[in-house]
Amino acid sequence: MNEQIQAAADKFAALVAQQLERVEKMKEDKDFIDYSKLNPIVIGVCGGDGIGPAITKEAQRILEFLLSDEVKRGKVAFRVIDGLTIENRVAANKAIPDDVLEELKQCHVILKGPTTTPQAGDPWPNIESANVAMRKALDLFANIRPVKVPEEGIDWTFFRENTEGSYVLGSSGVHVNDDLAFDFCVATTEGCERIARAAFDFAKKNGKTRVTAVTKANVVKTTDGKFLDICKEVAKDYPGIELDGWYIDIMTAKLIDKKRRTDFQVLVLPNLYGDILTDEAAEFQGGVGTAGSANLGKKYAMFEAIHGSAPRMVKEGRAKYADPCSIIRAAVMLLNHIGYSKESKLLERALDICMYEEKKLVITGREDGATGEAFADYVMETIQKLS
Ligand code: IPM
Ligand code: MG
Repeated sequence: MNEQIQAAADKFAALVAQQLERVEKMKEDKDFIDYSKLNPIVIGVCGGDGIGPAITKEAQRILEFLLSDEVKRGKVAFRVIDGLTIENRVAANKAIPDDVLEELKQCHVILKGPTTTPQAGDPWPNIESANVAMRKALDLFANIRPVKVPEEGIDWTFFRENTEGSYVLGSSGVHVNDDLAFDFCVATTEGCERIARAAFDFAKKNGKTRVTAVTKANVVKTTDGKFLDICKEVAKDYPGIELDGWYIDIMTAKLIDKKRRTDFQVLVLPNLYGDILTDEAAEFQGGVGTAGSANLGKKYAMFEAIHGSAPRMVKEGRAKYADPCSIIRAAVMLLNHIGYSKESKLLERALDICMYEEKKLVITGREDGATGEAFADYVMETIQKLS
C-alpha cells in the first residue's frame, strides 16, 4: 500500500514540477505578435485527416483567391503541411510528430482541418488528441467560438480557456491501483487572467456590456474558484462592463430558455465547460458543422472547424461531398485576425448568402448534394458579385 501511495505521490510531484515550469514560461511570454510587421505572414494549411484535407483545400482556395494581391506583393505566403494524419501520428506514437510540429512552428497562423482523436477501444493506440497537443505546444490559450442566430437575437462569443483545466493533464492521470484512479484539473493565475482579459478586451472593443463567467465554483472550489475570483479582479479594470457568474449546469439549461438566452453576450469559461457548452450553442445555428473556431496565443494562432474528421465518409467515398462551411468560417476568423478585416467581412457575407439566403447549392454530405469544390466556387462567385 505504501509503495502505491509513494508511486502516485512521485507522479504527482513530477506533474507539479512540469506545471510550475509552464507558469514561468507564461510569465516570460508577454508580448503579442504584430502581423503588420511580418513579411510575409506565413499561413500554414494543415489538412489533418479523414475529410480534413478535402474541406481544408477548399478553404485554402478561397483564401488564395481573396489574398492573391497580397501573395503577389510578398505580404502573405501559404505553406501546406500534410503530415498530421492518424497514420503518421500512430507511427511516431506522438500526438504531433516532431517534424510536423517543426513545420507548424514555421508558420504564423494555421488553418487546420479536423484530426481523429483515438479513444480506448479504437484500433489506434490511445495517443493524445492532436488538437489538444497543438493548443498546448503553441500555447493557444484562447479558444474563441462565435455563435449567431440573428433572427432569434442570439449573438454569443465564447472565450474558452484552452490550455488548462481538465485538459492539460488529461493524458497524465494516475491509476494508483486497480481500485483507484485520479485525473487532475489545473488553474494558474496567469492562465485565468489572460483568458479573462481576452474576453473583456473583446467586449470593450465590440461595445458589449456584459461578460458571463461560467464555472462550477460552488463544488469545484479550488480551480473553478480561482477562475471566478480572477474574472472578478479583471472586471475591475473594465468599468461599464458587467460581470456575472453562472454555474455550468444552469447555464446549459438557460441556453434553451428563449427569454433568457438573448441576454448573454460574451461568455468566459474553463476548458471542459467551454468544450461542452460551445457544442450545445453551435446546435442553435445549425450544428457544429457550421461553426468555426479560433485558437489564439501570443505568438501563434490556429483556426479550425469544430467538427470531427468523419472517417466513415472517407471510407464510403464521400469525402468530396463533405461540408467545408465550418472550415471556411474558420478562414473568416483567420483573415480578421491577421488584419484583413475587409476580406473577412466579404467572405462572411458571401458565406451567409450561400448558406442561408440564396442557397443555390446545398450540401448534404451525399451524392444528391453539391461537392465541397462546387460550393467553394459558388462562394467565390458570390464574393465577385459583392465586390
Ligand atoms: C473541440 C473538440 C476537441 C476538444 C476534441 C477533438 C479533443 O471537441 O475542439 O471542441 O475536446 O477540445
Ligand atoms: Mg468539442
